[in-house]
Amino acid sequence: MRTVLVASSKGGAGKSTIVTNLAAHFALEGKATVLVDGDRQKSASHWCAKRAGLETAVLPVDGSRRGWEKHIPADAQRVVIDAPAGAMADELESFLAAADAVLVPVNPSMIDLEATVPFLDSLAALPRVKKGKLPVALVANRLKPWTGASQQAVAQLQAWPYPLVAQLRDTQAYVLMVALGKSVFDYHSEQIRGHQADWAPLLKWLKKAL
Ligand SMILES: Nc1ncnc2c1ncn2[C@@H]1O[C@H](COP(=O)(O)OP(=O)(O)OP(=O)(O)O)[C@@H](O)[C@H]1O
Ligand SMILES: [Mg+2]
Repeated sequence: MRTVLVASSKGGAGKSTIVTNLAAHFALEGKATVLVDGDRQKSASHWCAKRAGLETAVLPVDGSRRGWEKHIPADAQRVVIDAPAGAMADELESFLAAADAVLVPVNPSMIDLEATVPFLDSLAALPRVKKGKLPVALVANRLKPWTGASQQAVAQLQAWPYPLVAQLRDTQAYVLMVALGKSVFDYHSEQIRGHQADWAPLLKWLKKAL
């Protein structure tokens, strides 16, 4: 069983969007996939409920309760954890203990970049991160690649001490698909293939990290 934690103290960075798309990707690969929802808003659990009828359903587990680990079936192959907004590393202890890799989404604005620094510092202080045993990567999310703000944010993120493993575009596709219990990996149109391509470096990094 391999576990990916998607976390950021900044609200609205794209945690649930990334968690749901990643969970669908694993499920579509044929892996028994569990989504641990650490957020009381339960957006990711609602997504699982909408997907429940599909062959590639993802099992939701309530991560806001102590002892959530006991609810992960023994045959689970991939676990994706949606961390609650506002939590720093010390409040994510049980999620970090379970994680084999951490993804930190960041939106391309100065407010988001600045708000993410203390969270990354809180991760950097963890012994497993310090020793290089828990890989951490950045995901730029909601990019409008033609804008100066997005270009500057990407340049800044590339200078940070964690790899920038994906540049996901701002598109209604994510909004619409998440509402349907779907992901960009469930569709095959040419336009959606472009969005899938945005995930390729992230998926490659995860293959190595997991
Ligand atoms: N790449 C994207 N393109 C367009 N909209 C996006 C994208 N990623 C996320 N969104 C939208 O931005 C909003 C915030 O995203 P999301 O809910 O995934 O963030 P979050 O980090 O889980 O938020 P919270 O901290 O409240 O849990 C949502 O309305 C979502 O649909
Ligand atoms: Mg969320």
